[in-house]
Amino acid sequence: MGESLSGLKRSHLCGNVTEALIGSEVTVMGWVQRRRDLGQLIFIALRDKTGLVQIVVDGNTAPEDIFKKAETIRSEYVLAVRGEVCARTAENINPSMKTGKIEIVVKELRILSESETPPFQIEDNITVKDDLRLKYRYLDLRRPCQLKNLVLRHQVVQVIRNFLSDEGFMEIETPVLGKSTPEGARDYLVPSRVHPGKFYGLPQSPQLYKQLLMVSGMDRYYQIAKCFRDEDLRADRQPEFTQVDMELSFVDEEIIQDINERMMQKVFHDLLGVDIQLPLPRMTYAEAMERYGSDKPDVRFGMELKNISSIVEGSDFVVFQSALDNGGSVRAINANGCGHFPRKKIDALVEFVKTYRAKGLAWIVVNEDGTLKSQIAKFFTEEKMQEIVDAMEGKPGDLILICADQKNQVVFDSLGALRLELSRQLGLTKPDDFAFLWITEFPMLEWDEEENRYVAVHHPFTAPMDEDLPLLETDPGKVRAKAYDMVLNGYELGGGSIRIHRNDIQKKMFQLLGFSDEDAQARFGFLLDAFKYGVPPHGGLAFGLDRIIMLMSGASSIRDVMAFPKVKDASCPMTDAPGAVDQKQLDELAISINEAVVKAAEETEA
Ligand code: AMO
Ligand code: AMP
Repeated sequence: MGESLSGLKRSHLCGNVTEALIGSEVTVMGWVQRRRDLGQLIFIALRDKTGLVQIVVDGNTAPEDIFKKAETIRSEYVLAVRGEVCARTAENINPSMKTGKIEIVVKELRILSESETPPFQIEDNITVKDDLRLKYRYLDLRRPCQLKNLVLRHQVVQVIRNFLSDEGFMEIETPVLGKSTPEGARDYLVPSRVHPGKFYGLPQSPQLYKQLLMVSGMDRYYQIAKCFRDEDLRADRQPEFTQVDMELSFVDEEIIQDINERMMQKVFHDLLGVDIQLPLPRMTYAEAMERYGSDKPDVRFGMELKNISSIVEGSDFVVFQSALDNGGSVRAINANGCGHFPRKKIDALVEFVKTYRAKGLAWIVVNEDGTLKSQIAKFFTEEKMQEIVDAMEGKPGDLILICADQKNQVVFDSLGALRLELSRQLGLTKPDDFAFLWITEFPMLEWDEEENRYVAVHHPFTAPMDEDLPLLETDPGKVRAKAYDMVLNGYELGGGSIRIHRNDIQKKMFQLLGFSDEDAQARFGFLLDAFKYGVPPHGGLAFGLDRIIMLMSGASSIRDVMAFPKVKDASCPMTDAPGAVDQKQLDELAISINEAVVKAAEETEA
């Protein structure tokens, strides 16, 4: 049921009816936030995307049918209201509301649609399970905090589009139905009906297309691009997400970094009023690992890693010595002022690092009187212990945490994560303090133990640094790439690289990745062919739009800045996607389902 709109036209959005309109007639439309009855007076707070406005129905002056109708109104009904804007009496003014000085006295009231009682209160600061919110996402999005994120998202895209257009970029759409070229994450596949047994792959990024556009002479391309990656979900990862993707011809790293940092500066200035100093700091990958144990360091606080291998070398402590003998290292952080942590809390830190494959965590407490307490004291002389403390700049009240492993990566991951965990526990950072930086000189390749081959750290089209070219033949693991990431507060906002535009180097790269010539031709032949016809030197970058908005809004997950996100198992509680399909559809696609696998999966889930 619901009355018609016929004859009524909205004159104002709810949030825009302010005291400037006192005395005039307005027509507003929206949802009922709440109804309050005070005997002969009924107050209705009406909401649309711009905010709330108060509607008054006075039983003494309003026609009886309007008053009767008003009495039936409940939360989330959709109304159209025509009335006169009046000043509120002094005691009724609500200074915290944009429309708090006025109210609309009803002349005409229509109930356009009724509403059942919603499954949760439509307002900020409610405690509701995420799954329920996402099942009723359309109601969740009525809440101002959720709406605000989508508005910000829209505005950011608007600023980016204008900025890039002014810089000579052209927005070009690339296909979503492409060829599956798995490298990195898993592809989402789409079966072809016309070619039974064949599949399209949804793009993990428009990487190959944008490089082809450079061959086409487009010079500067960008796209707000949907990307698909079948990988495990996290707070900053969704299977379907959006990139601000770009590619430029005839450029080096500096030009790309300059454009992108100016773009971020403009976005943060225009939308948050935050001024970012340029140029952004640059830090090499090697330095980031050494100091922060991470290639996306949060540099808003210290607690940096220090290598104490040379100090502890030669001790009787087997754990440290065997790590060193096997090519590893011993590193530490100083948790300033945490010396008072009770044993239980320290034990919890030891457990924490084990999730990063560390075998343990040694600790030294610097007591207030300067004496030391440690579970590894028995393995070292007093002088050695003091030497460690001095190296860590330990002061009374500090807690020094030490990790050893034969794999440096384990030490980096463990202490890097521990640093972040401690900053969370100690509240060392503020979300509105924005520390941007570029991480540069990434390694080109990393050894994959499982696959027993090199894999590309960025992707197979990233160019090696010129001075490292000879290493391609002699020590490929040491080759650094012309790759860079923009990092903000411990998150990788975006990444890119200068691409290989020489066929011989691209061939060498495929060789190192273990692709035969035939493999490379089968997967990427179209790119290699294109490169035979005049390819400009080119490079680019892609930002994760969702991550930018998450960090700007202070949201704790990218879910909160997407209209319709997926939950942890990549499903959608609202639409129930993914779903089963009719046998007829499967037959057309020549697909049969392996029921045994389905059953096994259902059992694990249960
Ligand atoms: P990369 O794989 O580093 O580079 O991705 C670029 C940026 O995309 C974001 N991102 C994600 N955001 C949400 N959910 C995900 N699952 C997800 N995966 C990545 C990150 C990341 O920095 N084609 C190259 C770019 C280039 O070389 O130009 C690329 O896709 O913010
Ligand atoms: P253990 O001799 O194995 O009992 O270890 C002695 C102490 O060293 C324990 O308190 C461990 O937590 C700590 N420890 C063990 N492995 C490591 C490691 N890889 N790095 C740092 N400390 C460790």
